[in-house]
Amino acid sequence: MFKLAHLSDLHIGPLPDVPLSALFSKRFFGLLSWRRKRHAMHRVEVIEALVRDLTLHPAEHVAITGDLVNLALTGEFGNAASWIARFGSPEEVSVIPGNHDAYVDGPYRDHWKMWQRYMADDGSCEITFPYVRRRGPVAIVGLSSAVPSPIAFACGSLGNAQLERLEPVLRQLHGQGLFIVILVHHPPLARISTRRNLRDHAALADMIARCGGDLVLSGHQHRFELGTIETPRGSVPVMVAPSSSTDDTNRHDEGGYIRLGIDPAQRRVFVAIRRYRDANGRFDTAMRGELVAGKDGIDLVQGDWPDTDD
Ligand SMILES: [Fe+2]
Repeated sequence: MFKLAHLSDLHIGPLPDVPLSALFSKRFFGLLSWRRKRHAMHRVEVIEALVRDLTLHPAEHVAITGDLVNLALTGEFGNAASWIARFGSPEEVSVIPGNHDAYVDGPYRDHWKMWQRYMADDGSCEITFPYVRRRGPVAIVGLSSAVPSPIAFACGSLGNAQLERLEPVLRQLHGQGLFIVILVHHPPLARISTRRNLRDHAALADMIARCGGDLVLSGHQHRFELGTIETPRGSVPVMVAPSSSTDDTNRHDEGGYIRLGIDPAQRRVFVAIRRYRDANGRFDTAMRGELVAGKDGIDLVQGDWPDTDD
């Protein structure tokens, strides 16, 4: 069983000083939102507890599916780089960007270079999407849906060029019999509103159906969700992690992170949702089970994992 920890939407604070010139943009509204509510929802002490939890219960790999920062200010990227390093080395951690990591037009791609070794092919330092990291029978494919969007929008896009590069990658990995885990910040699901969706979700779902892909890990929604992509090979789960920096007191955006146990040979995926408990400052398991295809798509059927203490 390959053990993977899936974190998302850390929205790491605190915010650095915001220059006045930065506020003549969408950042003005982002700063209002941060000061009004987000600073209290996304807490550094929860991320500290997350680091401790992953030290006590190590996974073989950690996937962080975007929105590490808030307003994409230069100082935020360096702070996030320090936190990423606390989760592990570039060999142990894979990162993809989210829409907040490309919040407004500007040099955000230059800032991503602070995370470049976590967003590159195995053995490379060059940021590339898709990137591929192979861990035994599991292939992790990182995509970027992070593009700036207008005020009041939080949509994403892969773009034709990235999709064209992805097709042969999926075909090759699928041909090698690997279990393919695709990381993409915006869930490729049709049910998400046009204000927040992945513009080319249908193209990605179609490509997974045609070329390969066994599991999609996303974020963006700030709550745990499951979706399904139907393929000729069966139902492919789309698993949406909550925000991993949010405590258990926020009723609308329950936080947490996901631990996965992947059995590549049997094509089985076991899931445990771990949530931060404000009462004791620790994470514990809120739900545990297996992803199973039902008549209405993928369900999380509760139960213990086989042969493990997860
Ligand atoms: Fe987010």
